[in-house]
Amino acid sequence: MAKIILTGDRPTGRLHVGHYVGSLKRRVELQNSGEFDKIFIMIADAQALTDNADNPEKVRQNIIEVALDYLACGLDPQKATIFIQSQVPELTELSFYYMNLVTVSRLQRNPTVKNEIQMRNFETSIPVGFFTYPISQAADITAFRATTVPVGEDQLPMIEQTREIVRKFNQVYGETLVEPEAVIPENATCQRLPGTDGKAKMSKSLGNCIYLADTAEELKQKVMNMYTDPNHIRVSDPGCVEGNTVFTYLDAFCKEEYFAKYLPEYAGLDALKEHYQKGGLGDVKIKRFLNAVLEEELAPIRERRLELGDQIPEIYEMLRRGSEEARKVAAETLADVKRAMRINYFEDAALIREQAERFANK
Ligand code: TRP
Repeated sequence: MAKIILTGDRPTGRLHVGHYVGSLKRRVELQNSGEFDKIFIMIADAQALTDNADNPEKVRQNIIEVALDYLACGLDPQKATIFIQSQVPELTELSFYYMNLVTVSRLQRNPTVKNEIQMRNFETSIPVGFFTYPISQAADITAFRATTVPVGEDQLPMIEQTREIVRKFNQVYGETLVEPEAVIPENATCQRLPGTDGKAKMSKSLGNCIYLADTAEELKQKVMNMYTDPNHIRVSDPGCVEGNTVFTYLDAFCKEEYFAKYLPEYAGLDALKEHYQKGGLGDVKIKRFLNAVLEEELAPIRERRLELGDQIPEIYEMLRRGSEEARKVAAETLADVKRAMRINYFEDAALIREQAERFANK
């Protein structure tokens, strides 16, 4: 069976370092591994509209931001088809048929949806489109016969829901759809990078994100203001590394070689942590180090992003071509689905013959 990747992001803002370690970095590695037959990367504008119906301009503006972040991180249109969800109407049609295979109570139990409903204070005024977006996500994945879905850990319930829809569809209508697998980061810290304030989730409204597009100055300021151990007041105080955002980010980003380059007096991260826990290591020093580490990782992305600023029409053209290509693939799957459901009436010569016989005046 062909090995195919599909994944994507909602264009509701620029992508941040949580997206980067949680999924983007892995996608680029998988893309460059040469192990996959096809790679589809989707800008999920239709899904973004499910809870931004009153603000389509936000979604419209952020499509190019996400595309720039993708290209800056190393996603390569020569190797991956990058496209815009709404430009592939076949996805909507697939969703409509999948809706019949999912119960309301099953959607209500989806932990990610539950959590998001709470976060958005929807209470009883949940848009139907939002409530059903896991079904549309199943359409996104299955339309491309994806075997592999690299995502952040919060998306696992979506993949599970997709697998259930696939099994149900295949059981009712015959073997048609491919059951996908999620790929999440191995490094547990990367699965859920906290915000710079130590809060569990990075979010634009909390103002606790480090964006891939941040300037060196913005990055430095955010790092120097990061949440650490509130009880670590004097340098000599013993400090706590658990729940200390600076150390969490070092767990996610630090490579051994950065110690040789910036902190040669420490053998590695364990030695640095030990010193901090013992006392005698100040926050400013660890923050400066983290800033250097993040600069190493993010400066090349930031520079590429700036250069790409001169190629906006070309990037829209790339997205247009990607969307066209995606549409062809999705249309084939949709045709398979309709054939399996036997709603391909006009292709079905036997049906027409049978009905003709049934009604013929003998
Ligand atoms: N739900 C994903 C997010 O919030 C975006 C998305 C839409 C997606 N369709 C997908 C991810 C299909 C993986 C596969 O970022």
